[in-house]
Amino acid sequence: MCGIIGYCGPRQAAPILLDGLKRLEYRGYDSAGISVGINHELTVIKQTGKIHDLRVHVPAEIAGTYGIGHTRWATHGGVTNTNAHPHVDNSGKIAIVHNGIIENYTAIKKKLEEKGVEFFTETDSEVIAHLIAQNYTGDLEKAMKDTLPVLEGTYGIVCMHADEPHKLVGARNGSPLVIGVANDEMFLASDVTAILAHTKQVVYLEDGHVVTITDDEFTIVDMSDRVVNKKIDEITWDLQEIEKGDFKHFMHKEIYEQPESVVRAFRGRIDREAATARLGGLNLNSRELLDIERIKIIAAGTSFHAGLVASYMIEQTARVPCSAELASEVRYRNPIVERNTLYFAVSQSGETADTLYAMRELQRKGARVLGICNVVGSTIPRESDGGVYIHSGPEIAVASTKAFTSQITALYLFCLVMARMRHMSFESGEWYIRNLTDIPDKIAEIFNTADKMQVIAKKYCSFTDFLFLGRGINYPVALEGALKLKEISYIHAEGYSAAEIKHGPIALINEETPSVFLVPDDRLREKVVSNMKEVKARRGPLIAIATEGDMEILDIADDVFFVPKVPELFYPFIMVVPLQLLAYFCAVELKRDVDQPRNLAKSVTVE
Ligand code: M6R
Repeated sequence: MCGIIGYCGPRQAAPILLDGLKRLEYRGYDSAGISVGINHELTVIKQTGKIHDLRVHVPAEIAGTYGIGHTRWATHGGVTNTNAHPHVDNSGKIAIVHNGIIENYTAIKKKLEEKGVEFFTETDSEVIAHLIAQNYTGDLEKAMKDTLPVLEGTYGIVCMHADEPHKLVGARNGSPLVIGVANDEMFLASDVTAILAHTKQVVYLEDGHVVTITDDEFTIVDMSDRVVNKKIDEITWDLQEIEKGDFKHFMHKEIYEQPESVVRAFRGRIDREAATARLGGLNLNSRELLDIERIKIIAAGTSFHAGLVASYMIEQTARVPCSAELASEVRYRNPIVERNTLYFAVSQSGETADTLYAMRELQRKGARVLGICNVVGSTIPRESDGGVYIHSGPEIAVASTKAFTSQITALYLFCLVMARMRHMSFESGEWYIRNLTDIPDKIAEIFNTADKMQVIAKKYCSFTDFLFLGRGINYPVALEGALKLKEISYIHAEGYSAAEIKHGPIALINEETPSVFLVPDDRLREKVVSNMKEVKARRGPLIAIATEGDMEILDIADDVFFVPKVPELFYPFIMVVPLQLLAYFCAVELKRDVDQPRNLAKSVTVE
């Protein structure tokens, strides 16, 4: 949830660190800090607020050609300048930045205090600086290695020493660190976005490995001091993908990227001659695929909603029982792993702690878990038994949009594989592919009338409670619409199956509670129309997302946003986009911090 960057090279470190932190801001952003070294001294500057707030406190003349930086999302200790990273030891010579949580920090702190160490912060992370100092005998890498066995919990750590200039030492356990390799300069970061402006050559560090970087080389060793040779990977993203371009917000840009990101999720994976999909990363042969009797999807937040959508499609089309569950619930209920059950861990970031820990628990019980992830090299794909990258490109806005439609695309491709192996005919396979590959154009059509949603948002954004209602495969889309609205506009919203409102939520309906109905022209349309009339009878304002040409809805709802017609099971792609736009325009209207809403972080690496 926090972000790390480190730099060693010929250039002044501070601007590079600040620029990297700016790009990491989306991960966690209540405070930030940097430490740069020169002439056997470290200068540490920390500040609550945004990177802009830190930047104004960094003197223009600050000198130092190696350094570390951090954006913090507070877990242990309040949001204060002191609690921000980097943390230093009592000599002021060692500085560290840390992502993760040191679970046994209280015991470590007590022991260190008994030895006379003075603590300045309320954080768990500060113990790392003091432990390294205690273990330091002139070799920072050795001090780091002697420190790690004492730490319980998760960490990505980078440290520097004033007396070992142009050297950074990093280590990871459950929190990502990547090495950036450039000409005569090296980087360490928690996320490639921080260093993409400088290099596309990266090495992903593994848990249990310690890396030392200098200006021109990196060395990785394991805890037994064996040198680890790792290949350098090339990042396929371009810098412009992590910049807003002509858009004011990343979220807006990412909503508009969906026609392209959906294509990226299916490109190269469709076998038209066999009317099926080819997903090499599944690591399952035909026999194993045929033996699957049940599919379970675990995920959190928006990824969970994508999993729910896919569960409808997979059951109805592949006729294989499929369910989606919140990963946070799976982990602690001692899940039963049955034979011939295939699990999917769905996660944009690939780092979500709830999903990762649930996946590990399932794997311990013998489950085969495949990942559906976006961030290449992240922990879930690395630890899963195979999977599919969705290739959405970087998703920077905290509110997930393009990842949702791409996750569904990947799971729909898997559904096609399963269905074609079972009962689906060649012709039906062709029909399915045609409809899936038509989706990008249908999404693009929605943007032609986006201004209508802006008008709707203006009209309704001052209401404080919303209901989002849908049925069948659009029920999870209603959940997603409510999540989007609340997370970026801070308007209270609930998602329900439209059928469920009569079992309770209808008590909330009055002139002050708008309902957003998803009412495509599918099998359940008449039922949803009845539910709309029930709300209308109680004077609840009605917004409908309906299929173009459905004129009856105009008479029932106060405001209607029309979407293109698609077959029933493909509507989630088409229904979710207006809801993303509604949330976006409401948040803009209310002058919210669209890309970095309060209290949230892009990747939730704590439980
Ligand atoms: O990276 P993940 O897909 O695993 O993240 C899961 C949730 O934290 C995430 O979807 C969250 O709900 C988003 N803020 C939703 O917009």
